Amino acid sequence: MSKVTVVGAGNVGATVANVLAHKDIVNEIVLLDLKGDFAKGKALDSWQQAPIDYYSTKITGTADYRKTKGSDIVVITAGIPRKPGMSRDDLISTNAKIVTSVTKSIMKYSKKPIIIVVSNPLDVMTHAAYKASGLDASRVFGMAGILDTARYRAFLATALDCSPKDLQAVLMGGHGDTMVPLPRYTTVAGIPVTELIGKDELKAIVERTKKGGGELVKLMGTSAWYAPGAAAAQMVESIVKDDNRIFPCCARLTGQYGLKNIFLGVPVKLGASGIKQVIELKLNKSETKLLHKSAEHVNAVMKTFAKMKIS
Ligand code: LAC
Repeated sequence: MSKVTVVGAGNVGATVANVLAHKDIVNEIVLLDLKGDFAKGKALDSWQQAPIDYYSTKITGTADYRKTKGSDIVVITAGIPRKPGMSRDDLISTNAKIVTSVTKSIMKYSKKPIIIVVSNPLDVMTHAAYKASGLDASRVFGMAGILDTARYRAFLATALDCSPKDLQAVLMGGHGDTMVPLPRYTTVAGIPVTELIGKDELKAIVERTKKGGGELVKLMGTSAWYAPGAAAAQMVESIVKDDNRIFPCCARLTGQYGLKNIFLGVPVKLGASGIKQVIELKLNKSETKLLHKSAEHVNAVMKTFAKMKIS
């Protein structure tokens, strides 16, 4: 009995809505985009796929926030994607204003939604939505870790010539080139990955993962959407079904890992009330160092955001 709003009907937003509809686990999806009838068209296309792929989830598109009334979950994908040569951080001046105003508009029509942020620069945009919403941090978090670990797992599946289904991994830190994949916590059907792959090859995969988003921007001229969209839909699923799945998500830290007042990728337990727990791993010295370095990077972007004085 859930209503989900997806803001932004671009590649990522439309994919979130489409993948979520295929899961057939929510009653209603509202796809919102201020760009004329664009969301209406995308939603209608998805709805016309329902008789073929067998789902009942009602999808509608709109440019009117009133239609989002009473949303249980809102996924924010609004904003511009990067172009070749840009870092995610270069998007802040445009996207910070968009994410703040989207969040405020959402809060006018939904009392206590759970907000999942996908817009970049992700960690800082999640902070922006948290600030603008006035919600508890357990209800505002970002999608990045599932995508980044999926890239890491896909690269490993190719290298090991095994099914991506058997790869389990955790990755922490900001959604940028300072992200921290954790080989010590990576297994293939329960087998530590280090027993199956050489050190150098693993290192190369870790480095490729860090720049995984950029690799796609170079190939396509814009950023990715299938894996990002599916990742956000997977978060919605764990919330709607109260599955308590453990995913790396961008969450507000209040002292965990020696960090506070920052949104950063960490493993969390996701269920009906949002983030039920931030899981604290026993990181070793070098892992902690990398995580803190990533936090420093996010804090530097936060400073730019603070200077923008968006209210
Ligand atoms: C990426 C974008 C969605 O990593 O940040 O592809």
